[in-house]
Parts: sequence; structure tokens; C-alpha cells
Amino acid sequence: MAEMRVVKFEVLRFGPETDAEPHFDTYEVPCMEDWVVLDALNAIKDDIDPTLSHRWSCRMGVCGSCGMLVNGRPVLTCAAFVRNYSGTIRVEPLSNFPVVRDLVVDLGSFIDKIKSVKPWIIRKIEKDVGQGEYRQSPEQLAEFKQYSMCINCALCYAACPVLASEPEFLGPAAIALGHRYNMDSRDEGAAERNAIFRGEGTVFSCSYANECSQVCPKHVDP
Ligand code: FES
Repeated sequence: MAEMRVVKFEVLRFGPETDAEPHFDTYEVPCMEDWVVLDALNAIKDDIDPTLSHRWSCRMGVCGSCGMLVNGRPVLTCAAFVRNYSGTIRVEPLSNFPVVRDLVVDLGSFIDKIKSVKPWIIRKIEKDVGQGEYRQSPEQLAEFKQYSMCINCALCYAACPVLASEPEFLGPAAIALGHRYNMDSRDEGAAERNAIFRGEGTVFSCSYANECSQVCPKHVDP
């Protein structure tokens, strides 16, 4: 049988029906060498404390649902290997979002901000389907491709110092997404999006701290 190493986890717990304040619970979890933090959370839920709530789906860095703070840094827990941490590992919900329960945050404001930048191709006049596709060269694709790699994991919102003091700030992922469509050669909606970008609490509120780009698991650079 593969060797297991016992690792101590401090996990932030909050139940809105029972807790006035969040608190940490400590768990000692036998971990295999190749486990990620998400595996340890699943082991806690399966074998130690079934009341723990956390989100995940794909386990392969694609769905963006398993983002949490691990030792204070926003990461995808399905990509954070336990062996890369020493001592007790502290797991908390993403900062800058209201906590629903334990490690689950309310992403409603994030989704609203994403929608507000009109993240779809806008055409003044749509071609009929029979007229064929809108063609694009590799160079035109390269203009926006990095911005299209975002998986909406919201790590950048947890890392953003502006959002910590201005919750209404549009934020890095929404700005990068709007820019992605503005740079798309098939799109004609830049004037509409730029009118949004010029509003209060949008691109000009960014302090260029660059934390968003540092934590992005897909190397998007808002
Ligand atoms: Fe999908 Fe981690 S579980 S990105």
C-alpha cells in the first residue's frame, strides 16, 4: 500500500444557522504523496467530518470552482500539491466575497460584473448563416487569445487590493473579458464596452498592483 503522511489542516468553518463568527477546525489527514489540497478536503468530508462544505467539479484546473485561500494565497485547490507545503496548512474561503458556508462563497456579484461588460460578439449587422463564417487570421486570434483563457475561478478578485476596499470595483476578470471582445476582429461593440469601462469603479480604479496576474492559474494578464 502507498505510504501516507499525516498532515494537519486548519479549515475555516462557518455555519450561518449556528455560528455568530467563523472559526477554524483542525483535522489530521493521512495524505498520499500525490495528493492535492482538494483531495485532503474530500478526505475530511468523506471520513472525518461530513458537515464540511466546499466546491469543486473537474479536478483538473478547468472548471474554476475549487478556488480557496491556502496559507493565505488564492489557488485552485485541485492544482495545489500538499507536498509543496510544510507544517500546518490553512484553508479559507476566497477573500473579498461573502461567505455562504465554510469554504463556499457567494459569487453573485462576480457573475453580475462579468455579464456587465457584454462578453459576446456584437455586430452592427449580422450576416445570414448562409453567407458563411467570420474568418480570422492567426495574427488576429493572437491579439486576444490570452484573455480568452480565463476560467472564471475568481482568484484574481480574492487577490485584488482594490476590491478589498472598493467592493463595487469591476475587477480584473471582467476587465480582461471585455478587452478580449474589444480586441476580437469579428466584434464591433468596442464603443459600447468602452462606455462601460469609462464609468465609475471600472478600469481607472485599478491600482496596477498586478496581484491578479500573479495568481491567475491560466496566465491571463489583466
Ligand atoms: Fe475544477 Fe479545480 S476542480 S478547477
